[in-house]
Parts: sequence; C-alpha cells; structure tokens
Amino acid sequence: MSEPAGHAPGAAAPVTGQTIAFADLAVERDGRRALDAVTATLTEPRVGIVGLNGSGKSTLLKTIVGLVRPTTGAVTVDGVDPTVDPRAVRAATGLLFQNPDNQIVFPIVADDLAFGLKNHGWGKAETAARVDAALDRLGIGPLARRRIHELSGGEKQLVALAGLLAVEPKTLLFDEPTSQLDLRNRNRFADLLADLPEQAIVVAHDLDLIATCGRVLVMAAGRIAFDGAADDAVAFHRERAR
Ligand SMILES: Nc1ncnc2c1ncn2[C@@H]1O[C@H](COP(=O)(O)OP(=O)(O)OP(=O)(O)O)[C@@H](O)[C@H]1O
Ligand SMILES: [Mg+2]
Repeated sequence: MSEPAGHAPGAAAPVTGQTIAFADLAVERDGRRALDAVTATLTEPRVGIVGLNGSGKSTLLKTIVGLVRPTTGAVTVDGVDPTVDPRAVRAATGLLFQNPDNQIVFPIVADDLAFGLKNHGWGKAETAARVDAALDRLGIGPLARRRIHELSGGEKQLVALAGLLAVEPKTLLFDEPTSQLDLRNRNRFADLLADLPEQAIVVAHDLDLIATCGRVLVMAAGRIAFDGAADDAVAFHRERAR
C-alpha cells in the first residue's frame, strides 16, 4: 500500500485533518496588501509554507483561525468561515504563534497549559494528565512549576508547543516552530512532526523541515508564487532568495 500523498514515507499516517480553502483572499493592512489573490485548497497531511520576511506567511495562518479578517475573498475550514464561527474553528485548529509570548496567559507553566484546556470539557484529572503527557512528550516535564517569563526563548517555544499538543486539535498550524530551538530540540520537533497523527501546516525558514512536507507553498509579496512538491518549491525559493 502506498503512503498517503503529502506525507513522509515511513511515518505513521495522520488520521485527522480538515479542508482549508482560500478563495481569492486579500488582506490589506495600513493600505498595503499583506495577502493578495490567494487561492488554494489544502487537504494534505503536511503542508509547508516558505517565503521571505514579510511575504505574508503568518498573516495567512492567522486568517485560518479568524485572527485576521479577509479584506476581500474568503477562508473556510471544513466549510466553516472562521470570522463567523471562530470558536468552532479554533476547537479543531490550533495555531502555534511565531512569538511564544503571544500564547502565554498564566505565569506558571502547568497552570497556563491547563487554562488552554479549560473549554474542552475535560475534568480536573484528565486536564492534569494531558498537561503532564504533553510536557513529557517534549521532554520538558521539569518545567511544569517554573514561571514562564523566566524561561529561555526555546523553553518558552516548547511550552507553547506542549499547550497546543495537549488539546489534540484536528489540524496544527506551526509558525516557525523551531526558530528558537537548539539542534537537539529542533531534531525532536522534526521527529514529532513525522509521527504526529494530526494534519500540520508548517511555516518555516528551516528548509530541511520544509522538505519533509508533501506539498509546499512559496509566498512572495502576499501571493502564492509556487505551489507543488517540496524539492521543487525549495529550489524555487532558493533561486528567488538570491
Ligand atoms: N499588525 C499589522 N499591522 C500592519 N501591517 C502588518 C501587521 N502584521 C503584519 N503586517 C505586514 O503584513 C506583511 C506580511 O507580514 P507577515 O507577518 O504575514 O509576514 P511573514 O511572511 O510571516 O514574515 P516573517 O518571515 O518575517 O515572519 C508585512 O509587510 C508586515 O509588515
Ligand atoms: Mg511570520
């Protein structure tokens, strides 16, 4: 049997996913187009997004969870418009922010993660078990009682990631998930991504990570400049970045 399209060979097949559709999407900010004429339908288990600074990658992820509204055009997630029903979309779709500070609400790591699980209807015991499991999965169990604002940048990024994993949404949106990680943790993230049962959309400047995605979009000046296989996309991106 062949692997599902868009998934690294050898990895466990993702079991959850959604159809994320952009229809002639444009986002204007301060009179400038952060996104322009974006049309694509994403169904693959692993989608990578690359592009130069300011090309619209983070803005695109934010439109999926309704944090940025389209100026024109539309986004839907399994048919639901995130600007109409953001709660429904966010219950099934988790975003790891580029800056982990934007993810943090409570001062203590375990409390912050438990808060993130509040609206999912799990009891106290299940919530605590999920928090512990997510921290252990990333090898950061010892950080549970630490104050988040005293953690290093990479530790904060791992805590934010643990918070996302604890929820187990259908789709995970990662905005430069390895930008502050050391090599060991970066490799740990790559392994995690390979085995993750959830659909994942990964924005990264880490081209080795991007190369593991079955489909890759290259963003340029708010548009999708290339959409295709990872090798071709990375070659296109390298050429454009000269
Ligand atoms: N809150 C905002 N207000 C006004 N303009 C913004 C805002 N956020 C982003 N922009 C602009 O929108 C464009 C796209 O930004 P975005 O953050 O999506 O880029 P990016 O591809 O994620 O870049 P990077 O690789 O640096 O993270 C940029 O020109 C940026 O200056
Ligand atoms: Mg960004």
